[in-house]
Amino acid sequence: MAETIRIQDIARHVGQEVRLQGWLHNRTDKGKLQFLQVRDGTGFVQCVVFKKEIPEEVFEAARRLTQESSLIITGVVRQDRRAPGVPGGYELGVTDLQVLQLAQDYPIQPKEHGVEFLMDHRHLWVRSQRQWAVLRVRATVIRAIRDWLDDHGFVNMDTPILTPAACEGTTTLFETDYFGEPAYLAQSGQLYNEANIYAFGRVYCFGPTFRAEKSKTRRHLTEFWMVEPEIAFCDLDQLMEFEEQFVSYIVRTCLEERAYELALLGRDTGPLERVVPPFPRISYDEALQMLAQIRQEMEDEELRELLKIEWGDDFGSPHETELTKRFEKPVFVYGYPTEAKAFYMEPWPGRPEVTKSVDLLAPEGYGEIIGGSERISDPDLLLERLRDWGLPEESFGWYVDLRRYGSVVHSGFGLGVERTVTWICGLDHLRETISFPRMLKRVYP
Ligand code: 4AD
Ligand code: MG
Repeated sequence: MAETIRIQDIARHVGQEVRLQGWLHNRTDKGKLQFLQVRDGTGFVQCVVFKKEIPEEVFEAARRLTQESSLIITGVVRQDRRAPGVPGGYELGVTDLQVLQLAQDYPIQPKEHGVEFLMDHRHLWVRSQRQWAVLRVRATVIRAIRDWLDDHGFVNMDTPILTPAACEGTTTLFETDYFGEPAYLAQSGQLYNEANIYAFGRVYCFGPTFRAEKSKTRRHLTEFWMVEPEIAFCDLDQLMEFEEQFVSYIVRTCLEERAYELALLGRDTGPLERVVPPFPRISYDEALQMLAQIRQEMEDEELRELLKIEWGDDFGSPHETELTKRFEKPVFVYGYPTEAKAFYMEPWPGRPEVTKSVDLLAPEGYGEIIGGSERISDPDLLLERLRDWGLPEESFGWYVDLRRYGSVVHSGFGLGVERTVTWICGLDHLRETISFPRMLKRVYP
């Protein structure tokens, strides 16, 4: 019997008869010829059914196949440069076909559907070629993240999901009932990793994080995946060096391993090829000046209004979009105002109104993919900040403790997986970068 193979390996079987197990993606009827687009999870391949070459009942079975029917298909692998699907051009000359289940009225047709319809059918939408490509890039991004960190001496720590207090502001907390007491879904694992560095030096956590984002934007999920490295004996400058090496590696890995998927998505990879260290670094103050300049030259009244910003404000999406359109590489913006950022950030020497913080903004209008900073290492200053921010000291006792027993300069950052994948794939909304997105108005399916 013919060997069962996966489509991704088809190039190794030219001239052989093989079996594929998969689903019908699409079918074109040309009378005596049927072109079946078959997918098996690892790829898509064209299978050609020629009436003259197979028994009548097999040809009829092929003709009756409906979209998404499951099947086992046997045939001889041929190389044909023009064949769609597998890179390099391979197709199957069908010799036999077994239908496992004939799918009835598959709701997603090869026509345009509205986004809400597709989101309601996300459990089926993930089968489309485009979603397949995006989610495979995501998997590669995640593997590249782990590989780079593991290879650079970072130890993986799993930080809690149920937490007693806020890390990134109290307005986006999801509250749960923890045996009669409130507990919150983690917004970040950072605070715990600040403890872990004192045992391991360099650590990272990588998991889902939760924020009750009340705004409906293209850049916010309520459940998203974040990798958070934390590094002992590391200041803000050293942090930026880590980040640019890390991000460049992730992008390069996708270019090398996911060229086919990026091509399917129509991604112009030119801008991604330019993602090599060093990345430009500008201060918040310089960014503000650039924005003022951009506004002056802008004709669009409405956008000019949106881009208004005062010293002290954090950037919104429009600011980041306009700024990063002017850069060829990801750009570091450092030194954000204290009032715009989190309580734990080390102040700028001699400028207490500024923090030793840095965001990394992706080019081409994508904006923030990383937020990070040097952390406060002095216990008294930290206590002062907790009070200024109105945070409950009793919940942070352990965190202040870390500054009492061998405190050192340390820094860390968080990279959002979905934002990174959105940028690398060249998408305009992050909802397609996770298999089942959670957003303000969506927890189904
Ligand atoms: O800038 P943020 O809020 O930083 C932190 O959470 C720090 N504790 C990280 C650290 O220093 N360890 O979030 C970091 C990144 C953002 O740059 C963005 O990529 C992503 O997490 N992110 C979101 N992604 C999708 N949906 C949301 N609602 C997000 N909020 C943040
Ligand atoms: Mg941020």
